[in-house]
Amino acid sequence: MARDILVTSALPYANGATHLGHMLEHIQTDIWVRFQKQRGHNCIAVCGDDAHGTPIMLKARDGGVSPEELIAGVSAERQRDFADFHVVYDKYHSTHSDENRELSSAIYNTLKAAGHITSRTIKQAFDPEQQMFLPDRFIRGECPRCGTADQYGDACEACGATYQPTELGNPVSVLSGATPVERESEHYFFQLADFETFLRDWTRSDHLQEAITRKLDEWFTAGLRDWDISRDAPYFGFKIPGTEDKYFYVWLDAPIGYMAAFKALVDERDDLSFDAFWNPDSQAELYHFIGKDIVYFHALFWPAMLEGAGYRTPTAIHAHGFVTVNGEKMSKSRGTFIKARTWLDHVEPEFLRYYFAAKLTHRVEDLDLNFDDFMARINSDLVGKYVNIASRSANFITKRFDGRLADALDRPELAQRFADAGEAIAEHYEARRYAQAIRAIMALADEANAYVAERAPWQLAKEDGREAELQQICTTALELFRQLTLYLKPVLPATAERAEAFLQIAPLTWADLKTPLLDHTIAKFKPLLRRVEQPAIDKMIEASKEDLAAAAPAAEPQAPVVEQAAAADTENSQDDDTIDITDFAKVDLRVARVVAADHVEGADKLLKLTLDVGPLGQRQVFAGIKSAYAPETLEGRHVALVANLAPRKMRFGVSEGMVLAAGDSPHVLSPDDGAKPGDRIK
Ligand code: 2FM
Ligand code: ZN
Repeated sequence: MARDILVTSALPYANGATHLGHMLEHIQTDIWVRFQKQRGHNCIAVCGDDAHGTPIMLKARDGGVSPEELIAGVSAERQRDFADFHVVYDKYHSTHSDENRELSSAIYNTLKAAGHITSRTIKQAFDPEQQMFLPDRFIRGECPRCGTADQYGDACEACGATYQPTELGNPVSVLSGATPVERESEHYFFQLADFETFLRDWTRSDHLQEAITRKLDEWFTAGLRDWDISRDAPYFGFKIPGTEDKYFYVWLDAPIGYMAAFKALVDERDDLSFDAFWNPDSQAELYHFIGKDIVYFHALFWPAMLEGAGYRTPTAIHAHGFVTVNGEKMSKSRGTFIKARTWLDHVEPEFLRYYFAAKLTHRVEDLDLNFDDFMARINSDLVGKYVNIASRSANFITKRFDGRLADALDRPELAQRFADAGEAIAEHYEARRYAQAIRAIMALADEANAYVAERAPWQLAKEDGREAELQQICTTALELFRQLTLYLKPVLPATAERAEAFLQIAPLTWADLKTPLLDHTIAKFKPLLRRVEQPAIDKMIEASKEDLAAAAPAAEPQAPVVEQAAAADTENSQDDDTIDITDFAKVDLRVARVVAADHVEGADKLLKLTLDVGPLGQRQVFAGIKSAYAPETLEGRHVALVANLAPRKMRFGVSEGMVLAAGDSPHVLSPDDGAKPGDRIK
């Protein structure tokens, strides 16, 4: 019986380009959805951009555009990326939509009326220069436990401690460098603990992967705390009903965005009913594909919100791991932080789909994209095995039989065995064991090639009187190829379409396994896929390094903040060695006045500078600028100083900072008139 199935992928934040980390999830989802459709089920896939929150607001501001303009541009680009990777959503929507505003307000009102929302005044860090409250990730300072400098406001990367930003030593605002002050503000909380009994039961009833259930047990033991669902203005989001200046925290309306996207689709189509999919007694299935970093939101907050608001809860959450490249985290400087568009510019998109499929399991594991393995696999499996079956048989049919297939198979039992394998392959797809599905399919491809090699049509073609046999052998080979195409179709939809055009058949569904292709005219064979070669990979990696060089200002931190921060840290930064604004904020750049400049005995290149740094006092710095400046010309001049460089002991004394200069000559950088010693450079 046809099932009604609604599938979602996590809604990507609307402030950055699509990259391979995103593609893993969207490809995993798309394969599953295509498989379900091919099986004849009513499977609907929706997604959209996650458009709200402080980082998006600030990015728009920095770029001189409105948030609406920013998110519209990102959404258009993202949809092109997905389409070019053959990732298809029935609806690609946005959390910044009327449907989402209405649903979010309604859900909030219901939760509030049922007593699940509480409010209280809390103290929060406030940036006095920017006049705004600071999300935890926008504050850095010393870890209260181990003292490591430059830690985020919610968790220490050195010792793993989690804490409140107010506990940081010497905190600074990432936005302005100012010291945050504490301010009080009224916040609204969702009382997660009201749902403890429901959640304990729900999380243990086959809705989650085992590893996730185990992780959740730890969270239950730690206790379910109230969830802060409000943010103060300025904020890009939806105003909370009944308030003047409070907004829903981005993570409150993000998952409701799944419903909103579906609602928008329902409004476009006559054959769908919102209630049939979302009412508590719905018989439809609901699946969320997500990354392992956002399990907390999807396995606790989201089911609790749905339960509390009187909707059905998800059938299952399907979590996956992260992408690594050549065994390491994706890295901008190594050129392995690859954007979807950069891949598309250089390498066939279906090859990424195939490689991901060949390695994806149902477990929450990271997936390594190893380029040597990638090339070997694509060239061997797809070009060497799969396409080869057709290319070795098709021409005989075209040239000798005018494109007509025989009316009987040479080996019906072989074709039957291929068809019989369909149920096991389907079970693998259904259970998201794509790697096992691909292994099973490739084992069949090996058999098909062994069959062609054994029957050697090219030999028969040279012999007289063996025409009928030749036609039946090539027909059998092409029937095996047709079945393999059917099995690979969720992974390789475009190739399958080309293969269908070559075979001159209607789009393959699972039901087509039963009927072999006989006594039927096919088109002339054209190569379906070309080998992938090293230079294409090299160029893609080079271009990814160039993307970095050309990049606009680095992305702001994008970590939603929750009270149980460590558990729910969702910053999915798959980059290790570029700097973002938080890194840049670590550099304390100051204006300094040269009080004295002196030659240094025994040093060819150095001058000793005595600098006045205003409130930071005097500093002694050795600067390699002797070749360009007579000392007396520098005295009184203002320069730019890196003031928090660790002091360096040199042969001539200790250098307490670095003066910035350009070029080889070099030219010392100076601020315009008016800057005072000690002023921060930002
Ligand atoms: O982690 C993220 O990228 C979020 N934008 C995912 C949101 S998923 C859903 F809740 F909308
Ligand atoms: Zn620490």
